[in-house]
Amino acid sequence: MPEPVIIAPSILAADFGRLAEDVRAVDKAGADWIHIDIMDGRFVPNISFGPLIVEAVRRATARPLNVHLMIVEPERYLADFVKAGADHLLIQAEPASTIHLHRVLSRIHDMGKKAGVVLDPATPVEMIEYVLPLCDIVLVMTVNPGFGGQKFLPDMLPKIRKLRALCEGRSLNPVIEADGGQDCANARETIAAGANAIVAGSAIFGKADYAAAIRAIREGCLI
Ligand code: DX5
Ligand code: ZN
Repeated sequence: MPEPVIIAPSILAADFGRLAEDVRAVDKAGADWIHIDIMDGRFVPNISFGPLIVEAVRRATARPLNVHLMIVEPERYLADFVKAGADHLLIQAEPASTIHLHRVLSRIHDMGKKAGVVLDPATPVEMIEYVLPLCDIVLVMTVNPGFGGQKFLPDMLPKIRKLRALCEGRSLNPVIEADGGQDCANARETIAAGANAIVAGSAIFGKADYAAAIRAIREGCLI
């Protein structure tokens, strides 16, 4: 039996006027992780929110908080996000964000949290070859980071295949997570390429029935 796919709703698409209710609703609807997008208006051209929102989400759910740091020098803020309740800290592989990738991943482990590295669409898999043993999660962006509701980039499928093969060749088994433009049709292809966790914002929070939306993505079928 293949392991079930992890579904991580991205709260970027939630209703911020009733954020706690929306988080409780996706939790009850079967979300495995809650994906939280932190944007600083420098690494990406959009500003979202900071540790205060992570704290609010923490109070609403016991599910692991999968915190995606799209910020310049995430190393400066790790302690704040840990204090706010993050379980997974995902840092961008690009030097425009993280200065010393290896050091920062090690620091996340030292803080007792799961470490993840994120690859933007233009970033090759080879970029993380030497830090792969430090990655509990590798997140492959399937859109350019910065905004929800963008179109899935199918060119990222061969990249996911290459990453899975690289991991297998080295007997490593990080969670391979995909983020951006994911709906059930794209998720089906993404999972077939080797991913085992899917982030979805609009395809979950944009639907009336969160449980049906999560089930549809997990099972890779159309609703
Ligand atoms: C994009 C974010 C994604 C985003 C996904 O920068 O990293 O997590 O919220 O949203 P959808 O699923 O709407 O593309
Ligand atoms: Zn994200």
